[in-house]
Order: sequence, then C-alpha cells, then structure tokens
Amino acid sequence: MLSETGTQFFGYYPGTVALVTAEHDGICNVMAAGWHTALSAQPPLYGVLVGRERVTHPLISESGVFGVNFLPAARAREVQGTGVLSLHDLPEKDKFARLGLETLPGAPLALADAYLHYHCRVIQTVPTGDHDLFVGEVMEVRHDPAFYDERRLFTGEAAVYLGRSSYVKTTQEREIYPPESFE
Ligand SMILES: Cc1cc2nc3c(=O)[nH]c(=O)nc-3n(C[C@H](O)[C@H](O)[C@H](O)COP(=O)(O)O)c2cc1C
Repeated sequence: MLSETGTQFFGYYPGTVALVTAEHDGICNVMAAGWHTALSAQPPLYGVLVGRERVTHPLISESGVFGVNFLPAARAREVQGTGVLSLHDLPEKDKFARLGLETLPGAPLALADAYLHYHCRVIQTVPTGDHDLFVGEVMEVRHDPAFYDERRLFTGEAAVYLGRSSYVKTTQEREIYPPESFE
C-alpha cells in the first residue's frame, strides 16, 4: 500500500548513473548524474541535469560541449566517487587522477573504461528549479563491442544505482517480452 510522505521525492531509483564530462580553459572534470535522459532519436538529443553550483556546470555552459559516459559495474566505486568528490574541494584539481579514471587520447571527454560514450553539443539550456537541463545534440557515439551482442543488445554487467550510495549489478539472467508475445 502506498502511504503519503509529503512532497520531498525519493526512491525513484533504481537507475543508471551517467558520468558527465566537460572541459573549458584547461580545466577538465567529471561528475555523476543520475538525472539524464534521451530526448529525441531524430535528431539525436540527450539531456543531463546539472546543479548550478557544480564545477561541471560552467565548464559545460562556457564550452558548449559535454560528454556522457556509462561505466560497467566493475567501476561502480569510481562512478560514486565522481558524485561525492567536487573539484571545488580537490587541492590537486584533478578528479580523474584522484579516481584513476582515464580518457581516450584525442578525446578528452570520453572515458577509456566506458562501454558507451556520447559527445554532445549544447543546443538548449532549460532552467529547471535548482538544476539546468543541458540539451545536447549527439555529435558522436562510441561503444565497446565487448559489451554488446551482434544486435547491439547490451550483454555486459552494468551498475544500477539504488540511492543512498548503493549499487547492484545486472545479471545475465533475462526475461524477454518480444512484441509478438502481446498479440
Ligand atoms: C549517484 C549520484 C548521482 C548524482 N546525480 C546528479 C545529477 O543528476 N545532477 C547533479 O547536478 N548532481 C548529481 N549528483 C551530485 C554531483 O555529482 C556532485 O555534486 C559532484 O560532486 C559534482 O562535481 P563537481 O562539483 O566537480 O562538478 C549526483 C551524485 C551521486 C553520488
């Protein structure tokens, strides 16, 4: 039974956490975003919600570009770390080095261990209460074939965020509901 708990929402996880990357004026950063979504297939648009106090926020708004990265379950600790540590507080001003995250040569917004990466150009910024929705046109997609089958169905092990710093791993056991099962 549902019980009323006021207006402070919680518990809408489980969900995946994206790592949003951005770079401007020689500063490169990465942060966890549980609030992210595909917005359009044609043109391909992807949105991330970023609080205005995040170091990542001005890096995106000033460069007009951001990366969206998805890391496998084996890197869930690092995913969480990017959301607990802020570049505001890191004396060395390098969250990548602190967490042992590497980027691809020539693609500073693409995390080397990601199974999926979108390179996005900001086409719209929508204020939403205490966050801004950066609407990105997806300019480039990279994926690691080791995590997908020949139909590009995800077959790897992903980390699913439950809230409160907790993650579970997806398993290989699946239930499949093809369209014909509804005829
Ligand atoms: C699992 C998780 C999900 C998060 N999701 C978001 C989000 O969607 N948007 C946001 O602005 N901050 C989110 N945060 C908080 C930021 O990741 C966090 O404030 C981070 O330290 C910002 O880094 P920065 O200041 O270096 O940019 C999340 C944190 C965690 C741990």
